[in-house]
Amino acid sequence: MKGKTPHIVQYQGSKRKLASSILKYMPERFRRLAEPFSGMAAVSIASASEHRADSYIINDINEPLVKILEEAVNRPKQLSREYRTIWEEQFTHDGGSIQHFYHVRELFNSGGKSPANLLYLLARCVKGSVRYSREGRFNQSPDKRRHGTHPDTLEQNIHSVSCLLKGRAEFFALDYREILDMLRPGDLVYMDPPYQGVTGSRDNRYLSGVNFAELAEALETLNRRGIDYLISYDGSCGGKEYGESLPESLGCTKILLNAGLSSQATLLGRKSETFEALYISRSLNSLTGAVPRQLTFMEIPA
Ligand SMILES: C[S@@+](CC[C@H](N)C(=O)[O-])C[C@H]1O[C@@H](n2cnc3c(N)ncnc32)[C@H](O)[C@@H]1O
Repeated sequence: MKGKTPHIVQYQGSKRKLASSILKYMPERFRRLAEPFSGMAAVSIASASEHRADSYIINDINEPLVKILEEAVNRPKQLSREYRTIWEEQFTHDGGSIQHFYHVRELFNSGGKSPANLLYLLARCVKGSVRYSREGRFNQSPDKRRHGTHPDTLEQNIHSVSCLLKGRAEFFALDYREILDMLRPGDLVYMDPPYQGVTGSRDNRYLSGVNFAELAEALETLNRRGIDYLISYDGSCGGKEYGESLPESLGCTKILLNAGLSSQATLLGRKSETFEALYISRSLNSLTGAVPRQLTFMEIPA
């Protein structure tokens, strides 16, 4: 596919910029790609745009989020139409566009969990940075300087994503381990769980966190079942490490991808490069021969 890879809406932690680097460590062609922590599914979309897999499993525990993708792929016109209506209402809302955002947020939190409502909230908040309260209520504020993606642009993007994945993707809103249980040898898994340890004790960035020991056990099980995987896990920024490394006993090869300048550090007036770790399962690395078989650090310009 020529031109830019489409994406639906900004989402924190999105792998949009790194997707093409990650794809370099996957086989040229494979049967099925599973993304159990899909977010906005940047890697599946990039893979589909290169015709790498025959089919896709897209899953995120956040059901309204996965519904955005499902609607975009299977009912693109309807989702675009609903988004346009909500987006246009902000200009006629009695309290102005900021109050309109809070109105849609309240609708969403009180049961109107329509994909179009969440799509608008994501498009309208700073960098798609969703925030959730302990009770699971969406509690992020709007970006006061922007009105959110224009409906014409969004419609075009939704249409492109639909063309890439329609008839090829299955959607689920389950815990990642239930997805892993469905897989068989020949499938490829790309995992992007929430980082551990970046924020304080409770991670309010996503609806749910992931326990380190359980994740390591799930990867061990994939090794035993002969299922290949790649996983983005810990990261580092300006020499500071975030999160724990995955156990060496898994036998993965770890590489570091250069994710560019940290926006957080730039805001604070520092220039720090961010590196994101990508682990490649042992059998996948033997298959593609992408990286020599020891723990290797490699930088890829962003
Ligand atoms: C770093 S984001 C993924 C971003 C994604 N790679 C993209 O390009 O947009 C992590 C995602 O994992 C999801 N998540 C958290 N716990 C989960 C679980 N136990 N099972 C499945 N998904 C989970 C979150 O809702 C969040 O969307």
